[in-house]
Amino acid sequence: MPEQKSTILVTGGAGYIGSHAVLALKQAGYEVVIFDNLEYGHQELVDRVLGVELFVGDTRDRSALDQVFATHKIDAVMHFAAYIAVGESVEQPGMYYTNNVVGTLNLLEAMRAAKIDKLVFSSTCAVYGIPPMTPIVEDCPFAPISPYATSKLMVENILSDFDTAYGFKSVRFRYFNASGADPSGRLGEDHTPETHLIPLILFTAMGKREHISVYGTDYPTPDGTCIRDYIHVQDLATAHVLGLSYLLAGGDSQVFNLGNGNGYSVQEVIETARQVTGKEIKVVFGDRRAGDPSILVGSSDRVRQVLGWQPEYPQLEDIIAHAWQWHQVRHG
Ligand SMILES: NC(=O)c1ccc[n+]([C@@H]2O[C@H](COP(=O)([O-])OP(=O)(O)OC[C@H]3O[C@@H](n4cnc5c(N)ncnc54)[C@H](O)[C@@H]3O)[C@@H](O)[C@H]2O)c1
Repeated sequence: MPEQKSTILVTGGAGYIGSHAVLALKQAGYEVVIFDNLEYGHQELVDRVLGVELFVGDTRDRSALDQVFATHKIDAVMHFAAYIAVGESVEQPGMYYTNNVVGTLNLLEAMRAAKIDKLVFSSTCAVYGIPPMTPIVEDCPFAPISPYATSKLMVENILSDFDTAYGFKSVRFRYFNASGADPSGRLGEDHTPETHLIPLILFTAMGKREHISVYGTDYPTPDGTCIRDYIHVQDLATAHVLGLSYLLAGGDSQVFNLGNGNGYSVQEVIETARQVTGKEIKVVFGDRRAGDPSILVGSSDRVRQVLGWQPEYPQLEDIIAHAWQWHQVRHG
């Protein structure tokens, strides 16, 4: 249990991963305040499911951050707020650097002014670009190939520098493919536009899309389609709570991969979705897309060893079944 009911500010807590983290924090006994501009977040889920205070504000607005810290006694921050669409970041890099880097710098400076020095940060496996190894370990060289990935790496560097200069402690999680939904169906993925594979497959199963496009069937993998590491959002949330309690206990800054260590091909994901849903899912095969690595699978040895984390839902069947349950209620 947390020390004296610590209060955690969760930026982006009205979004997909942040909302699951809020639920996990509440279950672990923390007080939570969400900071979200609601551009992509869902106030209705905050009110109906999470039942915590929502401070509507934008990280690009320093005065809003100062106000939340002046009016709440915050012990640490979980920072999910960011723009997340890789393709859009290529078209609008300025927008991504402003939100993801400048917004985060505002947050860090506002935290320093409020004498808060602990942060859990959402980074991404995209910082590795097209990695030379599999499974990917944290020391793998960085080679981001999109402004989105670069923005996350820039924040990681800022966090290291803040530790050196100010003793600011952070846990940075580099997620692989976040997927699935709250196992009891209360929360799930609801991005607009949706770009992630599993929800797009499930929309096809629901008849909301005519087909799912598969880009590239000639990769050096057993069935020729790309292999990815899908991590259940609930397992991500659990890791965040462990990372937070590690920091509150005085832990040093750390960086961890967060994947489940199993790779699944696009074809395997579609086949599993057919089994879980019992539906036809029409596939259209296309050419490779630029910048898609053939295999992205992470080693999570470090987070298992240091935080004692282990995934509760490593099976693709569970990930897809929970997502299916959510989408049927949300979009059925
Ligand atoms: N979804 C994935 O597979 C994945 C993979 C790697 C990393 N991540 C990272 O995880 C984090 C959460 O991703 P998600 O999938 O939950 O996205 P999401 O869009 O569902 O959630 C992001 C939330 O942040 C809010 N937000 C955005 N900019 C803001 C700002 N300037 N001020 C205040 N609130 C703001 C949005 O309204 C939204 O509620 C992001 O930082 C993302 O880069 C996600």
